[in-house]
Amino acid sequence: MDIVILRDSAAVAAEGARRVRTLLHKKRDAVLGLATGGTPLAMYRRLVADYEQGRVSFAKAITFNLDEYVGLGADDPQSYRYYMNRELFDKTDILHSNTHLPVCADGDDPDSVGPVYEAAIRAAGGIDLQILGIGRNGHIGFNEPTSSLRSRTRVKTLTRETLESNSRYFDDPARQPKIAITMGIATIQEAAAVLLLATGEAKAEAVQQMIEGPVSAMWPATALQLHEKATVLIDDAAASRLQQRDYYDWISEQRRALESQYGGG
Ligand code: PGA
Repeated sequence: MDIVILRDSAAVAAEGARRVRTLLHKKRDAVLGLATGGTPLAMYRRLVADYEQGRVSFAKAITFNLDEYVGLGADDPQSYRYYMNRELFDKTDILHSNTHLPVCADGDDPDSVGPVYEAAIRAAGGIDLQILGIGRNGHIGFNEPTSSLRSRTRVKTLTRETLESNSRYFDDPARQPKIAITMGIATIQEAAAVLLLATGEAKAEAVQQMIEGPVSAMWPATALQLHEKATVLIDDAAASRLQQRDYYDWISEQRRALESQYGGG
């Protein structure tokens, strides 16, 4: 796991956006795995600004989002489709037909959505870079604690803790869905690279478990310890409980020295 500790959330957003840009410069038709929630917002805003300044194009990109609520349509402001349209898709040159979320349309069997979504990811050639946030309980996507580490895209019931932390987005609690469809942990593991963003003190325990704890379904993000190319971008507050912080800073210093001598980065 590559651990990058930055000063604050603005630096995390800037570095996340830089990595997405770099990928799109190398591969215009990259397949991006995208996340919603509060954490990636600032990164999306930077990418929109980059697009407006002609620094990046999404014209050939394909996207697959991690998750979507069951029962909220694209025109519902709380749906993740609406969020993605508002924050990124409507503000860049991405083709809407190239953007995907695991939507369970009215009348669909929720259990049928996952296999179809997995097949679409495969047909696109797999995900090049999966963006992730992390829940306070260590979830990635909506893979709540006790999710199988081999899970696939499927229906998942949200924990009370997750419902509570997302309740700020819903004026009427009765309208907050309790069920979502999420990529599974095995789906996320298959991305060629993953980039997890975490900021703020509230994430410090989950970040510590993810990086330094034992691999366990109780902290689903620990599965990333088994990923060959996982990068974690965190700010000082999210890093505040790490026990080996000195070592991570030391690694970053050595990497910078290596890059200045041999190039790369
Ligand atoms: P947040 O959510 O970015 O809104 O904190 C992250 C998550 O629950 O995965």
